[in-house]
Amino acid sequence: MAKKQQPLKPGEKILFTVAGVFIVFAILAFIAMQIFMAKSDKPLFATKTHAALSAEGQQGSYLFRVNGCTTCHRALRNGTNMGRTADLDGIGSRRTMQWMYAFLQDPQKNYDGETIDHLPGERSAAYVAKMPKEELHAIAVFLSELKSDQGSSSSPIPPKGESPFIDSMVKTWAPKEWKSKYKDIRDDPEVLKRANEAAVEEMKKP
Ligand code: HEC
Repeated sequence: MAKKQQPLKPGEKILFTVAGVFIVFAILAFIAMQIFMAKSDKPLFATKTHAALSAEGQQGSYLFRVNGCTTCHRALRNGTNMGRTADLDGIGSRRTMQWMYAFLQDPQKNYDGETIDHLPGERSAAYVAKMPKEELHAIAVFLSELKSDQGSSSSPIPPKGESPFIDSMVKTWAPKEWKSKYKDIRDDPEVLKRANEAAVEEMKKP
């Protein structure tokens, strides 16, 4: 006869049940998400950047891909996505074509801080500044045509009035008298435009 197994202690039963419930829930949620993604015709995340490329912009897009920019940057679904500077989608709403052209030719002089990879010398992106000027110009035009929509994380303009998250934060944290004292810039296209221009100016400051 097999040795009699020790019954589980109540604490162990609870522990195993809780762990089991977690695992089953995770598996079910994963399956549900996969089914939802496969059935839905909408993308999981809304795209908030767009680009309408001119002829030179298209040339720049090509040069961007063949010159290794995509090892560190991302634009139009090409390349890596490592962070804010790395993701160049929408950059055209934050930087001007002139800024981009100046940066690419002389990164250290035109960047708002210390450059890491674009620093002239031994750094991995130092080669960029040595590329032919007309190629850098085309790339700068390309990048300036990568626009971000209002409310995207790469846009200096906050989302339109209907952002439930911002509304609830304002409701929770802003003192009542602010409603009469201040204007919500999301409601006024003129104020919004000026705020945007000010933000873009701010970004360009050394
Ligand atoms: C080895 C990685 C690397 C490569 C390759 C690279 N970059 Fe960068 N890039 C960076 C980093 C890091 C920054 C942030 C500034 C810095 O540290 O140099 C940056 C910043 C930039 C910026 C400024 C973004 C902003 O708004 O601050 C532009 C524009 C840019 N790179 C364009 C390019 C282009 C065009 C190429 C290809 C010709 C390229 N980069 C190749 C790493 C790289």
